[in-house]
Amino acid sequence: MFTRMDQSTQEEWQHISEQHMPHIFDMPARIMSMLRQLEALSLGFGTNQLHHALQTATMAKRAGAEDEMIILSLLHDVGKVINVPNHGQIAAEILKPYVSNDAYHIIRTHQDFQGEHYYQYMGKPQDLRNQYKNESWFTKAVEFTDEWDQAAFDPDYKVDPLESFETLINTFFAAPHTI
Ligand SMILES: [Fe+2]
Repeated sequence: MFTRMDQSTQEEWQHISEQHMPHIFDMPARIMSMLRQLEALSLGFGTNQLHHALQTATMAKRAGAEDEMIILSLLHDVGKVINVPNHGQIAAEILKPYVSNDAYHIIRTHQDFQGEHYYQYMGKPQDLRNQYKNESWFTKAVEFTDEWDQAAFDPDYKVDPLESFETLINTFFAAPHTI
């Protein structure tokens, strides 16, 4: 095996590509693992972040949302496992190879939409969502934020269990759009 890329061969890259396959196809298990890590994060809210994720996704499902919106609802805050300030961008980049362009942008910008409900308490402008009002995904982002995400901090809400979303996760993360 090469010690410098500029000395590599076609055969070596063929071998590396083949060795990547099990890792690529294990993505659903990594998504489940990240969701489970949210249980240890409460960050001062009335629910832990796994409950918040499950409540957001359960509310979307019960409202008849399409599968991609349910996946987006379940995973929108998964970036908090790494870092809170840019968690929307982190989650968006994780999901980008598996979801539509609209879903990518909804996750990427969701904090700007959430701000309408509480940024007055942080000294920030509440109208940050308005910069996206001409985007094709604006209405969906408003529904996601106002109907589900901002309303999903109720510890008494009976959420569907994480395992009930496993089939959907397996379907969405079976393979990226491009390998
Ligand atoms: Fe959220």
